[in-house]
Amino acid sequence: MPRINPSILSADFVNMEADLARIASADFVHVDVMDNHFVPNLTFGPQMVERIQATSPVPLDVHLMIADADRWAPGYAELGAASVTFHLEAATAPITLARRLRRIGARAGVAIKPTTPVEPLFDVLDEFDQILVMTVEPGFGGQSFLAGMMPKLARLHDEVRRRGSQVWLQVDGGVSESTIAQAAEAGADTFVAGSAVFGRESPEAAIAALRDEAAAHHRH
Ligand code: DX5
Ligand code: ZN
Repeated sequence: MPRINPSILSADFVNMEADLARIASADFVHVDVMDNHFVPNLTFGPQMVERIQATSPVPLDVHLMIADADRWAPGYAELGAASVTFHLEAATAPITLARRLRRIGARAGVAIKPTTPVEPLFDVLDEFDQILVMTVEPGFGGQSFLAGMMPKLARLHDEVRRRGSQVWLQVDGGVSESTIAQAAEAGADTFVAGSAVFGRESPEAAIAALRDEAAAHHRH
């Protein structure tokens, strides 16, 4: 079954507990941490994530859009996040960092921006539990889906299959009922959606519709 991870970047930041309760049928809640340095936007840090961790009905999928990931990412694993994804562009020693995250007990994820090639990850796939192929430039919700990332995703998917790797393939940015089929066809199994979940009258219905659409277009 495809995993649907709503992004709380599109939630109401002063009604977080209520908005978290609206996505109880999701697989994970996607938590975007931004530092106004790696990306030109600012959200929140570990204190807020700790409260989300204490309040959320589903496990946390933390997406760190922050510089100096080597230094800051382990703290998010220590506060109990089920999954911690850092950017390849922001890490000095990505393998060392991924191993550290796993040792703490989190799933270790690595994200790549649209113009970062995926091929350098091919020989180290099993060091990670998740690879996030960004389908927008990171920083903001509500941007349009970059369909040009689909060949990169398909190459990654086929390499994962060829090697028998168990790594999850996530897409994030512009994922909606009208774009999720393309991402599923290219091989994604884990889908982040912000505005396409929280921007709808019924987030639960949106999650179910996205999941059905992704399942119907699964890449073999
Ligand atoms: C963007 C964030 C995304 C964002 C997606 O940098 O990483 O998680 O919330 O929002 P939508 O689904 O609206 O594009
Ligand atoms: Zn994100």
